[in-house]
Amino acid sequence: TNIIKYYRTGYHFQPPKHWINDPNGPMYYNGVYHLFYQYNPKGSVWGNIVWAHSVSTDLINWVHLDHAIYPSKEFDQYGTWSGSVTILPNNIPVILYTGIIDVNNTQVQNYAIPADASDPLLREWIKPDENPLIVADNSINKTRFRDPTTAWLGRDGHWRMVVGSARRHRGVAILYRSRDFLKWTKAQHPLHSSSKTGNWECPDFFPVSLNHTNGLDTSVDGENVKHVLKVSLDDTRFEYYTIGTYDTKNDRYIPDRKMIDGWKGLRLDYGNFYASKTFYDPSKNRRVLWGWANESDVVPKDAIKKGWAGIQAIPRKLWLDPSGKQLVQWPVEELETLRNKKVELRNHKLNKGEIVEVEGITAAQADVEVTFSFSSLKNAEEFDPSWAHLYAKDVCAIRGSAVQGGLGPFGLLTLASENLEEYTPVFFRVFKVKNKYKVLMCSDASRSSVRNNPKMYKPSFAGFVDVDLSDKKLSLRSLIDHSVVESFGAGGKTCITSRVYPALALFSDARLLAFNNGTETITIETLNAWSMNKPDR
Ligand code: FRU
Repeated sequence: TNIIKYYRTGYHFQPPKHWINDPNGPMYYNGVYHLFYQYNPKGSVWGNIVWAHSVSTDLINWVHLDHAIYPSKEFDQYGTWSGSVTILPNNIPVILYTGIIDVNNTQVQNYAIPADASDPLLREWIKPDENPLIVADNSINKTRFRDPTTAWLGRDGHWRMVVGSARRHRGVAILYRSRDFLKWTKAQHPLHSSSKTGNWECPDFFPVSLNHTNGLDTSVDGENVKHVLKVSLDDTRFEYYTIGTYDTKNDRYIPDRKMIDGWKGLRLDYGNFYASKTFYDPSKNRRVLWGWANESDVVPKDAIKKGWAGIQAIPRKLWLDPSGKQLVQWPVEELETLRNKKVELRNHKLNKGEIVEVEGITAAQADVEVTFSFSSLKNAEEFDPSWAHLYAKDVCAIRGSAVQGGLGPFGLLTLASENLEEYTPVFFRVFKVKNKYKVLMCSDASRSSVRNNPKMYKPSFAGFVDVDLSDKKLSLRSLIDHSVVESFGAGGKTCITSRVYPALALFSDARLLAFNNGTETITIETLNAWSMNKPDR
């Protein structure tokens, strides 16, 4: 049977066919959202990379246009890799991107501008003769020199921009400055670097407000503004970010004390989410995050059969938590326009071992929001001290949804098959650590598919949730879309994206349930679930 066709998503961003990776140069310009992305026009594995181009007025319904940038010049003939857009003060958008110039993978930074800035769709881009703008000097590894950020203006009126790189095992954000956006000079010091993190791909550097959830344009600085540096680590395929201070005098970024600058640091998403990039959306005064969710099925065999690979995660509004200790994310509100048939549960109690089915919606293409409550924390299980150095995902692998607990595990069983041969649980487990509590959130793909292929990647993704439990509530939202489950714990404090490939829980055979496998009774205070429409694309 050809089950592979059921893995295409209903409401996530996907072109009609072929391979996609990083989101590039997202922007809002004269009433239109633009998304460019790394794309192989010839097949469903990585290669022949161009900047594909899609436009939208609502971040949900997309129109696919001709490729914006593709290899055509000496300075990019072996590849047009990732980059960003900066909208100049004269309202001209400029793309900065990485060009590959030879078979040795030598990387340079180029720019492109609209052929006609009055074309509302900015269909055609030109690459002026000043290219390449930046070539690596001798101190830089030429094959690890890519993914320029959106530029920002300093108070001195000069532009700054960062290129991702590495000096041996040290990840580096190389800083460049320019007066005119054409002649760029390397700063003496990088904006930031960190030992033993490997090559930094797709850096993203932006301000966030300490006072409100609105976004800030990339050049904003001053009182009550913090900065965020996010990098993608190519050897582990994970991203991390830190929150800190941008010391504009020395042009250096300094992570706050207690921020972990490395793999064990904070993640925008604890699952399959990579090469992410934010942009400032002036129309709704918000900062929006895009990220790529790669396939984790049997590459490249499934990809070739499917004819496509990769999706973009639902764009998320992102802001600084009032604590200043982490970012918070939530799917853009426009997604709610796709909500169709709704079902709900109110004050439904789940005793130990109980499940309840959420019936009446398309469970394979749904949006679910649920608030769980409990009357006491006293049943929380002890956090084993020997786990202290484990990642959350390792704890999730040891204490999965089927392992009975005290306060939890409770949550949703997404993409569940008729007799629960398959399911992807998204759940919480509350642990006691001395006099405190530690909340684990898991999105566990280990039971997601009975497809018998040892190469399928079925990770137990997880993150801890830094949440105040004094009101004895935990909330969860999951966006379920055939082969993806994107979840937001505690209002978006911990986010996890899983790619899953069921053999049975397909289309109308997929079920959605809520469960409790802990001794403490859990109440589903409210659960709202919607069938999701397909956007027109
Ligand atoms: C990240 C990345 C970037 C590079 C692009 C190439 O996924 O490796 O560093 O520019 O993809 O497609």
